[in-house]
Amino acid sequence: MEQYLTSSFNLETLINQLNNPNSTFYFAQDDQNKVGYLKINLGPVQTELKDPHSLEIERIYVLKSYIGKKAGQLLFEKALAIAKALKLKYIWLGVWEKNERALQFYKKNGFVEFDQHQFVLGKDVQNDILMKLTL
Ligand SMILES: CC(C)(COP(=O)(O)OP(=O)(O)OC[C@H]1O[C@@H](n2cnc3c(N)ncnc32)[C@H](O)[C@@H]1OP(=O)(O)O)[C@@H](O)C(=O)NCCC(=O)NCCS
Repeated sequence: MEQYLTSSFNLETLINQLNNPNSTFYFAQDDQNKVGYLKINLGPVQTELKDPHSLEIERIYVLKSYIGKKAGQLLFEKALAIAKALKLKYIWLGVWEKNERALQFYKKNGFVEFDQHQFVLGKDVQNDILMKLTL
């Protein structure tokens, strides 16, 4: 986990992502604090498919104390609205096979599994389920 955080969440990487016009971050906020965020990727910066007709949800993360309070739904609906406005054909994402809550969340929102891929977290090889929502 430490290796993953150092390589994927270091300041330089995050600044590059923030400056990339094909990646966008959105934040969910209550009265005072940011409680979650969404990262979407378009075109060539998508992590796998790189299809000009798709949008990747790379991350939806909600603070632990806000889980189950609809912040995730709000963030997902933002991604959906953007994909529709851009007239894209589908939204896709990868989710760890053991992340039952996220799998249920995406299934409830109409996503279906279409493939799997391996994800290396430090020294652990994990299986991600790739899911797609056709628009
Ligand atoms: C997955 C995650 C983004 C969902 O966001 P959330 O704010 O907790 O979910 P919401 O409160 O918006 O739930 C929306 C709907 O999803 C469904 N849902 C959410 N969690 C569920 C669960 N554990 N089981 C079944 N359905 C679930 C519910 O049906 C809910 O709607 P409903 O209450 O009207 O039925 C959030 O739990 C999270 O950040 N988890 C940790 C990080 C993560 O795993 N991110 C995804 C991988 S990229």
